[in-house]
Amino acid sequence: MTRIVFIITIIVIQHFLSSHTVLSSDQSPFERLFNRFSDFLKDLKNPNDQHERRYHDRLKHYESQLSQTRVWLTISSVVNVTGHDSKDHNRDLLIRALEIHWRRPVPPQPGDYLAIYRTNDSVQIRTFPLIDTKTNRTFPRYYKSDLEFNYQNLTNLNKTDKDDPYENCLQYMVVYVNHHENIESRNCIRMQARWMEQLFERIKDHRLSELMIPGTHDASSYEKYSYDIYELDGILSRFQYTQDESLYNQLAYGIRYMDWRVAVYNQTNHTDSQTFNWIEEYWMVHDMQRNRITLKQAIRQVVKFLTRTTHEIIIIDFHRFVHGFDGENDLQAMRQRLQTFIDIIHQQLGPYLIPYSSKGLPTIGNLIARNQRVLICYAYKFDVRQLPDSIMLWPPVQHLWADTDKLIELESYIQEQICKPSRSFHNTHLLRSMMAELTPTVEGVLFRRYHGLREMAALVNMNYEQWFRYRWSNCTNIVAGDFFLGSDLIDISIDVNRERFQSS
Ligand SMILES: *[C@@H]1O[C@H](CO)[C@@H](O)[C@H](O)[C@H]1NC(C)=O
Ligand SMILES: *[C@@H]1O[C@H](CO)[C@@H](O)[C@H](O)[C@H]1NC(C)=O
Ligand SMILES: *[C@@H]1O[C@H](CO)[C@@H](O)[C@H](O)[C@H]1NC(C)=O
Ligand SMILES: *[C@@H]1O[C@H](CO)[C@@H](O)[C@H](O)[C@H]1NC(C)=O
Ligand SMILES: *[C@@H]1O[C@H](CO)[C@@H](O)[C@H](O)[C@H]1NC(C)=O
Ligand SMILES: *[C@@H]1O[C@H](CO)[C@@H](O)[C@H](O)[C@H]1NC(C)=O
Ligand SMILES: *[C@@H]1O[C@H](CO)[C@@H](O)[C@H](O)[C@H]1NC(C)=O
Ligand SMILES: *[C@@H]1O[C@H](CO)[C@@H](O)[C@H](O)[C@H]1NC(C)=O
Repeated sequence: MTRIVFIITIIVIQHFLSSHTVLSSDQSPFERLFNRFSDFLKDLKNPNDQHERRYHDRLKHYESQLSQTRVWLTISSVVNVTGHDSKDHNRDLLIRALEIHWRRPVPPQPGDYLAIYRTNDSVQIRTFPLIDTKTNRTFPRYYKSDLEFNYQNLTNLNKTDKDDPYENCLQYMVVYVNHHENIESRNCIRMQARWMEQLFERIKDHRLSELMIPGTHDASSYEKYSYDIYELDGILSRFQYTQDESLYNQLAYGIRYMDWRVAVYNQTNHTDSQTFNWIEEYWMVHDMQRNRITLKQAIRQVVKFLTRTTHEIIIIDFHRFVHGFDGENDLQAMRQRLQTFIDIIHQQLGPYLIPYSSKGLPTIGNLIARNQRVLICYAYKFDVRQLPDSIMLWPPVQHLWADTDKLIELESYIQEQICKPSRSFHNTHLLRSMMAELTPTVEGVLFRRYHGLREMAALVNMNYEQWFRYRWSNCTNIVAGDFFLGSDLIDISIDVNRERFQSS
């Protein structure tokens, strides 16, 4: 019981600390919580029904406008634990299930089907019919398969470079075969480690603020699924992790924007009980919860990626500073910690950093010519412009954050915000990130409305195709998602940029 009270307390505290912008309000935190709670009670049935109807109407609309059949693969963030035997660890768990999506301008014909091929030996291992022969009805445009997509070793980025993109397929390929046995479309999951290089001629005269950029929300809160962490360890873990790929892998798959949060903790560096020192260590955090890697380790992953590429630009958005940065009454210590923070970044990334300019962002071509490929954005209230090397800090990325657990509200928020011109900061070309995920409420967690962030991510990721490939493709700058392989975000971004910047 004390454990539950403890967890609830943590969640409540965390919730208040994590409100991104405090709107002016006369309500006390308690009143605000109470009002939200009563809203919640009015809404105990599925809050997403209304959204679902619109989703299907729009799907038909966009599908009818396609010029050809499209198929693609994603990886489910939802783990199926039914039938799991907790004594026999990880048996019967379906983790990272391969999901298949298809779209066709006209309905499929009897005899059309989808097939999954294994890439290592080109063996066809699954087929899926598209029409139910008993009723002649078309099956839904989405299958969740029983195949697991492995965690990949992406050390060698050169695998990206084959001329035939299908040679770069990781593990599986999906094809649409029509009733004449012709392949109408095929696709797979692959690294996109050099997509900026491949689009360079098109994008070189433009700025990062003009591109569509795939990103990860809370990028460093990553952890592979394990039954113990998620189901036994309980509630906190299910709401802590937003990704399950390392930072390096995120970049290798094509992510170019990362939302980072840091904190400072005292720890010992002892090797035995006699000789040790207390040192302040900089950790990556998901707000109140510490992640598994330090700031130095996080940056090292970025450096590893940078040294293996030449034209890829990465945006690191230091969005929140928590423990150790909260002591307004000890400004001296604060200044010291911020200086150390700057030093850590500068030591490891020095030559790659893009120096701040009041004229705004240089063009991509100019940056690449100088091999300046890391943009550091700094979103903290303490002005550090007097500190040495602070020239590398840029103004914060504007987060467009709906702060809702309801899809219908997230969608109307995007509709309202995404095409508005950016708020006028003193610098031009401000970057804007659509935080395209749901945020759990305290009440929702307590009443178990959602199992965890993996389930919430799956609900949203289904929509990325409609939102960012079609509806708002003209306005989108950065999109930051959870469990990014659960959507087609990276390929959508690349395609949108190719459309936006036709070769001159
Ligand atoms: C989950 O796995 C069980 C078998 O372990 C299976 O019967 C069930 O259909 C699966 N559910 C989903 C949603 O995949
Ligand atoms: C391809 O991978 C599958 C699954 O890991 C394995 O069973 C099969 O033997 C592999 N085939 C070849 C030719 O390596
Ligand atoms: C399905 O369509 C076929 C040919 O179009 C037709 O022969 C068959 O009777 C239909 N079946 C049903 C259940 O409607
Ligand atoms: C990944 O592959 C590289 C070679 O490409 C190898 O050196 C490394 O040990 C592999 N890592 C793992 C975890 O298997
Ligand atoms: C990748 O290719 C580059 C040149 O394009 C080469 O210098 C590098 O050694 C290659 N790396 C691996 C791991 O093969
Ligand atoms: C521990 O930290 C102190 C002070 O920073 C340093 O001098 C010492 O070498 C460190 N010891 C180890 C084992 O890292
Ligand atoms: C670490 O401990 C020292 C000494 O107790 C204290 O002054 C300092 O504020 C602590 N730092 C953090 C980040 O808690
Ligand atoms: C996006 O921009 C293009 C070119 O300016 C225009 O033709 C198209 O209608 C726009 N699409 C939307 C959804 O606004």
